[in-house]
Amino acid sequence: MNRNRRKFLRHLAAGSGALAAGLPSLAKVVGASDESVYRSEIMQDKKQTFNMCGYAAPKIETVRVGVIGLGMRGSDAVERLSYIDGLEITALCDKYPDRIAASQKTLEKMKRPKAKEYSGNDGWKALCENAPVDLVYTATPWSLHTPICLAAMKNGKHAATEVPAGKTIDELWELVETSEKTRKHCMMLENCCYDFFELLTLNMVRNGMLGEIVHAEGAYIHELGKDWLFNKKAYADMWRLKENIGQNGNLYPTHGLGPIAQCMDINRGDRFDHLVSMSTADFSLNALAKEMAAKDSFFNEYTNRQYRGNMNTTLIRTHKGKTIILQHDVSTIRPYSRIHLLSGTKGAAQKWPGPARISFGHSWLKPEELKQLEEKYALPIVKHIGAIAKEVGGHGGMDFIMDWRLIDCLRNGLPLDQDVYDAAAWSCPFPLSQRSVAKKSRTVDIPDFTRGAWKTNKPVDLTLNGGGTTGVREVKPELKMQ
Ligand SMILES: NC(=O)c1ccc[n+]([C@@H]2O[C@H](COP(=O)([O-])OP(=O)(O)OC[C@H]3O[C@@H](n4cnc5c(N)ncnc54)[C@H](O)[C@@H]3O)[C@@H](O)[C@H]2O)c1
Repeated sequence: MNRNRRKFLRHLAAGSGALAAGLPSLAKVVGASDESVYRSEIMQDKKQTFNMCGYAAPKIETVRVGVIGLGMRGSDAVERLSYIDGLEITALCDKYPDRIAASQKTLEKMKRPKAKEYSGNDGWKALCENAPVDLVYTATPWSLHTPICLAAMKNGKHAATEVPAGKTIDELWELVETSEKTRKHCMMLENCCYDFFELLTLNMVRNGMLGEIVHAEGAYIHELGKDWLFNKKAYADMWRLKENIGQNGNLYPTHGLGPIAQCMDINRGDRFDHLVSMSTADFSLNALAKEMAAKDSFFNEYTNRQYRGNMNTTLIRTHKGKTIILQHDVSTIRPYSRIHLLSGTKGAAQKWPGPARISFGHSWLKPEELKQLEEKYALPIVKHIGAIAKEVGGHGGMDFIMDWRLIDCLRNGLPLDQDVYDAAAWSCPFPLSQRSVAKKSRTVDIPDFTRGAWKTNKPVDLTLNGGGTTGVREVKPELKMQ
């Protein structure tokens, strides 16, 4: 069926409840409804108002940051950011005041001034509207990521958000439109793009060492069951367990997808075209809920719910004809993996299961050969800040490399490595995989959030040209992160 015909039928379906009743294929599905897909096609057909890819905002000498969401991730971010010169954390926000107090203590320990405080359910709105900040840095539950980024940009602030940037296609388009309209950055904090092997392979790909990348695989496979999802002391108000109820697909696509999308120049020479997705049934979450409820009635409300299938596998095809396998599983017992497989016409790389390996033939290189490549293809950012980042910590250093680079770009008026189109494209499997799963793995088109600009957008800059001027405080043993 051609695009116009499909659009016409969708238009009819969106405008007529009776049609939806008669045609099951047009019925609403969880994740991305027919109506939202129709709206997305209209958005895609509109002309891009301003291209945020490669956009350099005016320099900010001292970047004033407001951090929202001071749980496990946000409180660590406060600590990491405190090491960076040319930055002040001027505002802190959480629903719960005791979490703000804990982060104020971190600032005190780091000999930083006290920040303004915003608490309660809507404190983030006041922060975005009134706080003296240049950048709003968000580490809240997923459903607040888009609303906070939108409020930040609309109030003249740059936005950086934890992953994923949004949960629906409508949200992702709104981020794109708002970033273009306000000319404020909207960066998704995809820290895995800054991990050491991922940066090495990105530079090797850029130098043609693996040839043309034909196929890639990524994942977020991390068993979170008893210790995290069902732990009352972990995610605030059990938000992450609740996300795994009533949504069936890949709910955490960006850690696996971001680094390989950069290697494939997605949005900068190629783009995601369509996907198909399949989920297993749930074989463990409801059983775990029952096991927990047998010991603690708190968990009664989590039994016999519609849990996400344990393993989701999504296949993406790019416009140029390359493929990606993306997996997501947080509830079966197996070692952690983001896979990070790159298969090119001249070689291959794979990070998980470890050790990380490179091959130019039928077998993997020996460790000493890999070491030589690591030295030869270490990116300027790794040489500049890699050792310090390992000292500061945060997933082995990648979190700090990301934070430092973000602040250094803002201070030097450089484009960010990840723009709003990356945030949208890497997050969109969240709703689109659910749509495909709900329709027996049917093909789903992936929107072009760049509205054609992917054909001419330049690949992400791997140099530190024009930047690299942001200092880092001495990492004293007593200040080291846990
Ligand atoms: N990039 C990574 O490696 C990584 C790792 C872990 C978590 N994350 C992401 O970080 C985010 C936070 O995860 P977490 O593990 O810290 O969860 P968490 O539950 O520990 O923290 C979330 C915080 O947000 C606060 N919050 C909730 N509603 C709020 C509101 N209305 N206003 C202000 N604050 C509010 C909670 O009180 C809590 O302190 C999530 O998006 C998660 O996906 C990313």
